[in-house]
Amino acid sequence: MSIPAIVYYGLTLTFCAFLALLKWNEIRYRRKGMPPGTMGWPIFGETAGFFKKGPNFMKNKRARYGKLFKIHALGSPIVVCMDPDVNRYILLNEAKGLVPGYPVSMMDMIGSRNIFAVHGVDHKRIRGSLSTALGPAAIRVHLLPIIDKYTKSFLDNWAGKIIDIQEKTKEMSFLVAMRLIAENESSSFHDAFKATFHDLTLGTMSLPIKIPGTSYYRGLKSRNKVIAILKEVLAKRRASSTTHDDILDQLLRNEACKLSDEEIIDQIITILVSGYETESTTSMMAVKYLHDHPRALQAIRDEHFAIQQSKKPDEQLSWDDCKNMTFTRAVIFEALRLASVVSGSLRKATTDVQLNGFTIPKGWRVCVYIREINYDPFIYEEPFTFNPWRWMDKDLESHKHNMMFGGGSRMCPGKDLGIVRISLFLHHFMTRYRWEEVEGNKLLKFPRVEAPNGLNVRVEQY
Ligand code: HEM
Repeated sequence: MSIPAIVYYGLTLTFCAFLALLKWNEIRYRRKGMPPGTMGWPIFGETAGFFKKGPNFMKNKRARYGKLFKIHALGSPIVVCMDPDVNRYILLNEAKGLVPGYPVSMMDMIGSRNIFAVHGVDHKRIRGSLSTALGPAAIRVHLLPIIDKYTKSFLDNWAGKIIDIQEKTKEMSFLVAMRLIAENESSSFHDAFKATFHDLTLGTMSLPIKIPGTSYYRGLKSRNKVIAILKEVLAKRRASSTTHDDILDQLLRNEACKLSDEEIIDQIITILVSGYETESTTSMMAVKYLHDHPRALQAIRDEHFAIQQSKKPDEQLSWDDCKNMTFTRAVIFEALRLASVVSGSLRKATTDVQLNGFTIPKGWRVCVYIREINYDPFIYEEPFTFNPWRWMDKDLESHKHNMMFGGGSRMCPGKDLGIVRISLFLHHFMTRYRWEEVEGNKLLKFPRVEAPNGLNVRVEQY
């Protein structure tokens, strides 16, 4: 056989092998009544396309298959739902067999008793405890003074410096969260936590390969250290009658919704992980959008200066002050929406589930994809414009298709706390500083919102 013929037959064989693999993967997942879609390559599915094309990957699929379609990405077959009514139905009907279905690595880092991993009565009990510890009454009485004190001091000495807002909002989010969890614990407690937490968060996004050197392995080691630190503090607190104004004490002493030590530890790690990126990214994007929209910047400054002027020097911000930050709240919602800080939620079918006339097989994941709803022109006029004023109409926040904080029995229990923390950061930042962006900042909005080189700004005293 001549060389060209060998090459020809070789290429044909390779091509046929590729086609056979693609076909095999389609057949493997084919079942009657399933949503339309393609499954890509065995194991890898269409993960490469998913990352390369970003949000367009989903948009192209919707154009081809409709609002409910199947894909294979990130190691799992997934049904993606872009229909707002069906998404709402999924969030409101966990009991029909669609429970939270977050990746293995995430669940391994936050623990088997974390709130996302439990259902039914256990979920109700843990949620009851968390809602009390993080809810409006706890914020007003216990948490607000802590947030105000540590947020304010975190912003000290920024004038005349170039500050990476992304890095700083992350650092602040963690630092303030730790003070909220256990304000008066020793600095060695806080230092030990700080040293391990970074690896733990990286572990939540890793491939679950447990061999030394992997992010997953390092994450698990960090988790063990965090457990040891928290166990020690819990034992100390259980043995003492002294009470503390922090989240740990609220979880420990809630008689109506009692939690074991193991459950408390997993909830502490869960709230640290849940609030960390959502809050810091929303704060960063609010700063970015305000920088680019001087009219909104002026409006938010006016709001915060009016609050500042109504107070004595160094008087702490109160719950009523937070309630008066109505434009700030609108800015937060608009930043969450426009940047799509949360793209959606993941569910897993515990049994074969019927959804909009299709069958979702047991074990499959369902992605409640809300990103495109955020840009729906029927809900948000000129959806790609930063317009916080739209949220001044309170009906928009309670619109049935607003799922930025989830919905149903899994609606974010940290919503009020998150909004208050971002509002207080904006209050202290706006009233103390002006800032200009340094050239070269870049923003990525998919698969997560981030500034790969940081969001660097030059800060001056206001
Ligand atoms: C801007 C800030 C935040 C956003 C956008 C946000 C968003 C969300 C969303 C969309 C869900 C639903 C997830 C699902 O259905 O699977 C959720 C759940 C949750 N969030 Fe948040 N969150 C924020 C801040 C926080 C904070 C600060 C905390 C804790 C201090 C927190 C703790 C939780 C917890 C524990 C759940 C699980 C609730 C359950 O399963 O019952 N979140 N959040």
